Amino acid sequence: MLLVTCLVLVGVSSTLGLDNGLAKTPPMGWLTWERFRCITDCKKYPDECISENLIKRTADFMVSEGYLDAGYEYLGIDDCWLEKKRGPDGRIVPDKERFPNGMKAVADYIHSKGLKFGMYEDYGNLTCAGYPGVLGNERLDIQTFVDWEIDYLKLDGCYIDPMAMDEGYPAFGKMLNETGRQILYSCSWPAYQEPENIHPNYESIAEHCNLWRNWDDIEDSWSSLTSIMNWFGDNQDRLAKHAGPGHWNDPDMLLIGNFGLTIDQARVQMAVWAVLAAPLLMSTDLTTIRPEFKEILLNKDIIAVNQDPMGKQGLRVWKKTGRGSRARLEIWNRELHDDSFALAFVSQRDDGIPYAAEFSFEEMSLPQADYEVYDLYKDEKQRYLKSNEDFGVRINPSGVKFYKFVPKSKVEKSHSSRVATIDAVVNAVLNKD
Ligand code: GLA
Repeated sequence: MLLVTCLVLVGVSSTLGLDNGLAKTPPMGWLTWERFRCITDCKKYPDECISENLIKRTADFMVSEGYLDAGYEYLGIDDCWLEKKRGPDGRIVPDKERFPNGMKAVADYIHSKGLKFGMYEDYGNLTCAGYPGVLGNERLDIQTFVDWEIDYLKLDGCYIDPMAMDEGYPAFGKMLNETGRQILYSCSWPAYQEPENIHPNYESIAEHCNLWRNWDDIEDSWSSLTSIMNWFGDNQDRLAKHAGPGHWNDPDMLLIGNFGLTIDQARVQMAVWAVLAAPLLMSTDLTTIRPEFKEILLNKDIIAVNQDPMGKQGLRVWKKTGRGSRARLEIWNRELHDDSFALAFVSQRDDGIPYAAEFSFEEMSLPQADYEVYDLYKDEKQRYLKSNEDFGVRINPSGVKFYKFVPKSKVEKSHSSRVATIDAVVNAVLNKD
């Protein structure tokens, strides 16, 4: 009877929810939008227009420069890849000049490099930039994507009533599932409901999507980055619990390598995105990126925090807002699978003054223990923090210190159990007579 019940439950959950086995850790890759937007004039901007050339060039660099080895495996085209009209057979068609060999050829190139292929469409009548959306042609468009062998679909939500999304996104995901091809499903569902004060049903979203954009589009600036961080911190009680292996909150693309962030600010984004268990989707020109930014994107220890197998989203555990927004200081803390913790100490002050402070265990939301502390950006030497001490940090203006705290309790446990054993032997000897 129990077996039958279990089988029924398994059957029910796999038909209702997304069951593609993907995104056990936050997806990593590259996406055109933030850096290359809707640049379609290849005569004026040959290196920047959304085109086969851009995608192939990026694929080459993702492999040759070590991004794929570091985990960035999805290469995605965002909006503006389409012809404005569907073909005579009703199918969506890639822009003929910019994708002269069609999309399957692009997919084949990406796959030949060992990368996975991401595509963008919109659930409404039109994409956000005004190209044909899938509404009314869902099955046909999914078939087209399967023919092209895509591995990832970002389904945007312009030109559709946000109230219709609670039904629409799961139905579309079900159709994707039914193709039998493993396609990672990125939903923009809550991003269109949150601003309308429609309370998103995150239980359902997490059941039906691998990742979901929650909030505003990120733009290439410190103010945009911090406003998104602040929103995720302010709403973490509603959001964080829905993240986990297979399903993730998405605060949007990485700005790292572009024009709007200093190196310290870029380090902030990488650290906070690691704590948030956020998808790591670069959007930058990998052919011209400065080495200091590249180093941030390829930081293995920080990627390991982001990809921690337990998949528990971290929290902003402490914040202090002084006069104006300048003195804003905050601590973000993520618990990792091996009992260690990743802590980002972020200063949002942009008045050029470094922040120096001492924090108690309570302020850091850290269990009382002795820790070995590693600076994940490797500026500082390893430190040892005793359980009765405060932890001192000095943070650059609009910057971060990002540490891994590894408890020494295991060592202490074995030390204390050894002491206990010796005690027991001594007691046994003393009490013998
Ligand atoms: C929306 C999305 C962006 C991007 C654009 C494309 O604004 O949120 O991430 O996909 O559409 O037009």
